[in-house]
Amino acid sequence: MVHAEYGGVVPELAARAHMKAIVPVTEAALVAAGVAWSDLSLVAVTNTPGLMGALLVGLPFAKALSYSLGIPLVGVNHLEGHLFALRLEHPELEPPFLAAVLSGGHTELLVVEDWCRYRLLGSTVDDACGEAFDKVAKLLGLPYPGGAEVEKLSREGRESINFPVPDPGGLDFSFSGLKTAVLYHRRDHPDTPRADVAASFQRAAVAAVTNRVEQAVRKTGFRVVGVSGGVAANGYLRERLADLARHHELNLVIPRPEYCTDNAAMIAAAGLERFARFGPSPLDLPAAARTALS
Ligand code: KG4
Ligand code: ZN
Repeated sequence: MVHAEYGGVVPELAARAHMKAIVPVTEAALVAAGVAWSDLSLVAVTNTPGLMGALLVGLPFAKALSYSLGIPLVGVNHLEGHLFALRLEHPELEPPFLAAVLSGGHTELLVVEDWCRYRLLGSTVDDACGEAFDKVAKLLGLPYPGGAEVEKLSREGRESINFPVPDPGGLDFSFSGLKTAVLYHRRDHPDTPRADVAASFQRAAVAAVTNRVEQAVRKTGFRVVGVSGGVAANGYLRERLADLARHHELNLVIPRPEYCTDNAAMIAAAGLERFARFGPSPLDLPAAARTALS
């Protein structure tokens, strides 16, 4: 894989890989779904946030599709897509509810006041949760992307190291100190089994998430909590969240793992709702590397 070779995403290579893949991947998706180009009625596309190079491949492709097929275009915030992954499997899910999006670039705790209307409660002050998994994976010599690799290795390890559970206060998150603690531990105790380091890191990172969710539940009183984004595919996190849900009698919604990590179905679901509420986006819709959910 193009990113595994470099231990991370090289933006220029990612853009070129997108360029090569976008047509065959779209064609393969249509074949898999048993749908023809002429069956399509709306094009939903991520226009923010993300790596500019990748957005500047997907967005013009979507515009060209919309124009040539004569169907509307609708821009979607990628994080909003992760929130709609919650509804893919739980169509009955009704706002308001509490949600956490844990991805490679974002860690956000928010209230879904209504679909397409969000209130941010907290976010990471430094690294994203998935980014911490990826950086620790790299420290342990595991391939990129590292989250699932850390999870796999953790199953063979003991939570023997007491890494501090990060807490920057309020409802914010912080993961860079934990990553540095792992770095120093590797330097000072090179003989500790890697699996023990992985399991101990995972325990602390997951505790940081469950603690925040618990605080947000206490503070807001919401009984329905949705968790999505790539890190929500983590089995250990899912178990700890399930414990929390039992303890507080919460209705916990986590998409199945393939809907937690990036996927086009969630963007389509978000696009459909946005189109129904706000109509199409203009064909000169810009790409933006960073945009907050609103
Ligand atoms: O949502 P996502 O697929 O892409 C972004 O929007 O960033 O999230 C990717 C992130 C990566 O950091 C990846 O290492 C992490 O999610 N991830 C995991 C697991 N699967 C993916 N982290 C921990 N455990 C996993 N099983
Ligand atoms: Zn994502």
